[in-house]
Amino acid sequence: MELKQAIEQRRSINFFDTEKKIDTDTINKILELASLAPSSMNLQPWKVLTVVSDEKKELLKSAAFNQPKVTEASAVFVLLGDLDYMEKNIDATLGSMVELGYMDKDAAEVMAGKALGAHGAPDSEKRYKNAILNTSIFGMNLMYACLAYGVETHPMGGFDPKELKAKFGLSNRLIPVMLIAAGYLSPEKTLKPRVKRLLPKDFNHIL
Ligand SMILES: Cc1cc2nc3c(=O)[nH]c(=O)nc-3n(C[C@H](O)[C@H](O)[C@H](O)COP(=O)(O)O)c2cc1C
Repeated sequence: MELKQAIEQRRSINFFDTEKKIDTDTINKILELASLAPSSMNLQPWKVLTVVSDEKKELLKSAAFNQPKVTEASAVFVLLGDLDYMEKNIDATLGSMVELGYMDKDAAEVMAGKALGAHGAPDSEKRYKNAILNTSIFGMNLMYACLAYGVETHPMGGFDPKELKAKFGLSNRLIPVMLIAAGYLSPEKTLKPRVKRLLPKDFNHIL
């Protein structure tokens, strides 16, 4: 599928086929493709819970204001921003850059110091913002990765983060950013036309 076509075709699906499941191999391929998303200093702060069991979907649904698509979709990706992404991922990221000849070890150490400045201390607002910002970009990539495998999606911000964290026993270092329901459109439903988008003239200013 062409990229332009994928952007035009992506819709938030409200009615999923409850019988048709995404197989595990496809889920892994989708996540691998999604992981090519860009991130600040390539620090990849996202963590994902892929909820597929009926029991866990019920738990998630109650934390998501009982939105039916949570249990009707084949899988729901819970996207989390990990506030400790710097400490966890910087060595792997810079190590890879050294290995691939982008920089030597000394330069990597300088870069590590700069990264801490740019991303702030573990409890800083900078850290929090970066975790959410980069995980959101991963979310968009995940929706297109799904489409590349013929899987439809629906992003959701409508959930109670406190309840979600409590129900899934998540640490305070993980911020729930977004849910993405994924699966196949119910054969009994057809999509209504896409709701109006603002035009570039409404939101763009050329300077
Ligand atoms: C961050 C985010 C949060 C959203 N939260 C919800 C939600 O909780 N429930 C819902 O039904 N739709 C939710 N949506 C879907 C939007 O309503 C939908 O994207 C919008 O109406 C445009 O429709 P389209 O995606 O089909 O183009 C959300 C979308 C985004 C990007």
